[in-house]
Amino acid sequence: MEGLKTKVMGRRLHVYEDVESTQIVAQSLVTAGAEEGTLVIAEQQTSGKGRMGRKWYSPRGKGIWMSLVLTPKIPLFYTPQLTLLTAVALCRTLRQLCAIDIGIKWPNDLLIAGKKVSGILLEISGEDERLRHIIAGIGISANLNVQDFPQELRPIASSLLIETSAPVSREAIILAFLKQFEELYEIYHEQGFAPIRLLWEALSVSLHRPIRVQTAGGVTEGIAESIDDSGALTVTTNTGEKIKVFSGEVELR
Ligand code: BTN
Repeated sequence: MEGLKTKVMGRRLHVYEDVESTQIVAQSLVTAGAEEGTLVIAEQQTSGKGRMGRKWYSPRGKGIWMSLVLTPKIPLFYTPQLTLLTAVALCRTLRQLCAIDIGIKWPNDLLIAGKKVSGILLEISGEDERLRHIIAGIGISANLNVQDFPQELRPIASSLLIETSAPVSREAIILAFLKQFEELYEIYHEQGFAPIRLLWEALSVSLHRPIRVQTAGGVTEGIAESIDDSGALTVTTNTGEKIKVFSGEVELR
């Protein structure tokens, strides 16, 4: 990619027209020995994967559907920190390039005016810490019109085009994101999660507000207070209990 200013991220690039999922392609590249920073981009995904077993709608040519291979030297327990780091990198990139008020809903949804324009899915490959790879999947609904979304998504999803009333350059976003991500990833390895957590908190739309959270254990309502070192959301429930949510779906109330 011309104009790429990174040392590692995106240096190995694999571009496809149609794939089932860039996550699946990245996984097979990992099996074949792919290095950190390897990036898979597709024009269209026929079976894009979302969080919690959902599908990710990825129509041809309208979005950014990509997967980045990482080999961080961190304990498995800290992997959610990288989800938050990826969300921060993406949020900062879109704020800069699109001059738009975009925020992060825990753990990794990017929202504009309450509607989701981007999602992140981190998948772990390999148990052994020295050999482990993480595949960071990033989906950005860039240039979709309202009619491009299936009816059922229209109340909850939007795109950069719809929200800014102007088409965006997918290439400019990818280049800026890779640069931003690499800078934060370096800071993370040098200084740990603390500076990333501060950035995440400043961009969050979920903290200090009433939320309803759906976890495997059921539905809880309360106030989202903070995130902890493992990336978990700390919630004070309406019954006064303090709980930690490690994974689940947050609804802003
Ligand atoms: C979410 O549910 O919010 C996560 C969505 C992640 C979608 C991206 S698109 C590129 C990569 N390939 C996939 O199949 N999923 C991720």
